[in-house]
Amino acid sequence: MIGVFDSGSGGLTVLNALVEALPEESFLYLGDHARAPYGDLDNRHILSHTTEAVDFLMRSGCRLVVIACNTAASVALRTIQQDWLPRHYPHNRVLGVLVPMVEALAGVPWHRDHPHEDDILRYRRVVLFATSKTVESRAYLEEVNKRAPGCSIIQQACPGLAGMIEEGASESALQEAIAGWTAQALGGHAGEVPDAAVLGCTHYPLVRHLFGAALHPETQILSQPDLVAEALRDYLRRRPDFSGAGQGARSIRYLTTGEPGRLHGLARFMQHLPGQFSRTSL
Ligand code: DGL
Repeated sequence: MIGVFDSGSGGLTVLNALVEALPEESFLYLGDHARAPYGDLDNRHILSHTTEAVDFLMRSGCRLVVIACNTAASVALRTIQQDWLPRHYPHNRVLGVLVPMVEALAGVPWHRDHPHEDDILRYRRVVLFATSKTVESRAYLEEVNKRAPGCSIIQQACPGLAGMIEEGASESALQEAIAGWTAQALGGHAGEVPDAAVLGCTHYPLVRHLFGAALHPETQILSQPDLVAEALRDYLRRRPDFSGAGQGARSIRYLTTGEPGRLHGLARFMQHLPGQFSRTSL
């Protein structure tokens, strides 16, 4: 069973793609709705909450956990992988959602830490939309810069956007907010059309059309769910010991630290997913 974690419902956009791409795998989804949004918390709390959530999923039987939250992955993933996991679950693995996106941006596979002179720069100008915490962490900038130093990234924080999506804000309110952030991001770069826009928050694929309307039609929008699903399929091919394929019928379960009846806007996230949330404490 594969664990999928997000601060709230955003990770369901990733789960949806995983469920489709990996029909034989079972999944346990955990949303920490009671303490979301993480985008407004300090790093110490993001690290402790994320560690607690990963620990819960591992105690529940997940040997592999995907942190389907850019904020949690940007702030906490490295510490969890390097310090916490080897001490508590040395045979388990935790993966994030940044690596597949950075690979797509840089066009350089992760195992090659430095660019090679033959590497062709796929995108020269990129605009990244994410939570304030992800922007502040500079994780995307640093990782892309290592692999594709010629690629320049404009970072734009969209404070409160994940919360608006989660609470089911109206289409017009979302449209106005996204148009504002897009104008802010590109304001100082008049006449330059970004080659790509990264939706660096797992909530944002649900409003991809609004980013599309605000951006130039030639800007390619990159969103994580399909990239992460492709990367996980590849990972399980290389590490079949983490796969549950061939072990009977799949199960997909959803847990929340919040009140399942009060998860607003959930229908939007669950359109293609079967089942219902149950409450848990960590
Ligand atoms: N879905 C989370 C992400 O990908 C952010 C939401 C939050 O602020 O909790 O960054």
